[in-house]
Amino acid sequence: MKYNIIRLERTGSTNEDAKRLAKEGAPEGTVVVADSQDAGKGRRGRKWISPPGSNLYFTLLLKPDFSPDRASMLTLVMALSVAEALESVAGIEFGIKWPNDIVLNRKKICGILTEMTMQDGVIEGLVIGVGVNVSQKEFPEELQTTATSLQLEGLSCERMELLNCILECFTKNYEAFLKCLDLGRLKARYEEKLLNRGKEVRVLEPSGEYGGRALGINENGELLVETFDGKVKEIFAGEVSVRGIYGYV
Ligand code: BTN
Repeated sequence: MKYNIIRLERTGSTNEDAKRLAKEGAPEGTVVVADSQDAGKGRRGRKWISPPGSNLYFTLLLKPDFSPDRASMLTLVMALSVAEALESVAGIEFGIKWPNDIVLNRKKICGILTEMTMQDGVIEGLVIGVGVNVSQKEFPEELQTTATSLQLEGLSCERMELLNCILECFTKNYEAFLKCLDLGRLKARYEEKLLNRGKEVRVLEPSGEYGGRALGINENGELLVETFDGKVKEIFAGEVSVRGIYGYV
């Protein structure tokens, strides 16, 4: 894929910028990267605090012609790409907490927010926003047990080098995804990094909560959870949250 990187000093949210650019006709491969965000967005309507001079905040715009029901898988394609890029830049292994948090030493180091805009039932823009904590030294109290940065873990990297490496890994993984429009070719590598695999988890659905053991993912990126009565449930990322029984992972 050909990337066109737009660098901003300060913005509201790179996801909002990329969605606006999509509407204005920007091509696939447009990447908005900002040094800071005033209204950084996390999943489930949360904020993504985005101070200047410390972290990587970027959004990639795709304009795919596949059906909107394939879109949620791109989050997992990006999660795998970020984990692989971090490994090559930092030289150690990173894990993935399903579906898309990158984790180091049981703490979250990167979050991904995928959003889609549609026009007459087809995808107008698919934006994948990525926030990697690079050199943030402090987190608000409520995040201290669950969030970390490369620097806090004794690692360092140059933000633009990391961005280029993520985009390189994404190109390769996206090509593999496009062959069958599923995660068949990426599943094994994703599962190698999947920290929930083989672990007991609690599944929090809007309709209730249950426990089980995470087995892996299927080709659609759904988490397979074997409940205690031996049934295997396929969990779609949407509204569900999956927790380890001993904490965040
Ligand atoms: C999460 O809650 O885990 C997802 C966080 C995603 C944050 C990134 S930072 C760049 C992009 N712009 C945003 O407003 N959010 C995403």
